[in-house]
Amino acid sequence: MAAYPKISENTSGKVSWQSPSNIAIIKYWGKYGNQLPQNASLSLTLSEAHTKTSVAYTYGEGNVSFRFEGKENDAFRNKIVRFIDKIMDDMPFLQEMDLVIESENTFPHSSGIASSASAMSALAMCFCDIEKAVFGKLEGDAFLKKASHIARLGSGSASRSVYPHFALWGKHVDVSNSDNHYAIMPSDVHPIFKDFHDDILIISAAEKSVSSTAGHALMEGNPFATARYEQAQNRLRQLLICMQEGDIHAFGKIAEDEAMTLHALMMCSDPSYVLMKPDTLTAIERIRAFRERTGSPCYFTLDAGPNIHLLYPHEVSEEINTFIEEELIELCDNGRIIRDRVGPGPQKS
Ligand code: DP6
Repeated sequence: MAAYPKISENTSGKVSWQSPSNIAIIKYWGKYGNQLPQNASLSLTLSEAHTKTSVAYTYGEGNVSFRFEGKENDAFRNKIVRFIDKIMDDMPFLQEMDLVIESENTFPHSSGIASSASAMSALAMCFCDIEKAVFGKLEGDAFLKKASHIARLGSGSASRSVYPHFALWGKHVDVSNSDNHYAIMPSDVHPIFKDFHDDILIISAAEKSVSSTAGHALMEGNPFATARYEQAQNRLRQLLICMQEGDIHAFGKIAEDEAMTLHALMMCSDPSYVLMKPDTLTAIERIRAFRERTGSPCYFTLDAGPNIHLLYPHEVSEEINTFIEEELIELCDNGRIIRDRVGPGPQKS
């Protein structure tokens, strides 16, 4: 357990952060121990889909209150209390404080978009900021490393949301400073990826039938697990090369292969399950046909759900917009699309 002096009775303050969601290109799917990944993953940090969280703290005895979008929310509160318990070794001072936490999302809770990455990273940024305000010392890289580590204990993918543009989480032999405990920023990425678009086509806003956490657990009995973890490490090696070279086509191919692999792993879990919907497959066919017809660099990836993430560089956005209007929007639930793109990472407010 980290050693901290006892906090004084007049300690109080308030911190606020907004933190984004992220979309993995190389997927984290399978974990062990205390939230450690079976393979390294790499994601784009988004900008539109984010969570805003504020934490008011006073000297106290570990009471937590939580309001989500202005309303008391016991289910989320209990999640946060469990999370705080999990990080007690890293932040023991939290049990000497009373916390009033308020949170809101810029994307609809029921849109089928994963909110754990933005929610847990926003909370982690707030907790690290409290540590910095009360004890000092936590600056720059050390701050982000700790925020990533804390966020990981809340949700693995959240570890990647603390950095601008891109993040790599998990040990990889080619990246000397990579680590299973926190994410880092990959270096030398070509600027074309810094303003990449990710339009999220909401094929279904219904709640997922199998949570990501349950999906990770099913990897333990998956007969292809070992080969999968090795494949992910190899794909990450290739992805880093094409991201350095600015090779969008190679990047897009890996993104699509990873999406298909993720869902194939679900289909061959025991019990098997399918999170794609018929319109997910129709969209995939249309995206591939459009690319063949036009040569335009437009690719997809999928999260653990039915929604399509359409990935393309900024320079073709007009052309892609027409394609969306003509062929994809009709496949979306109530025509819903979240127009997102690579962003600057968490912001203090
Ligand atoms: C398919 O991070 O949501 O989005 O660690 O159990 O909270 P927990 O899982 P989570 O899993 C994300 C899975 C994924 C791929 C990815 O983001 O890498």
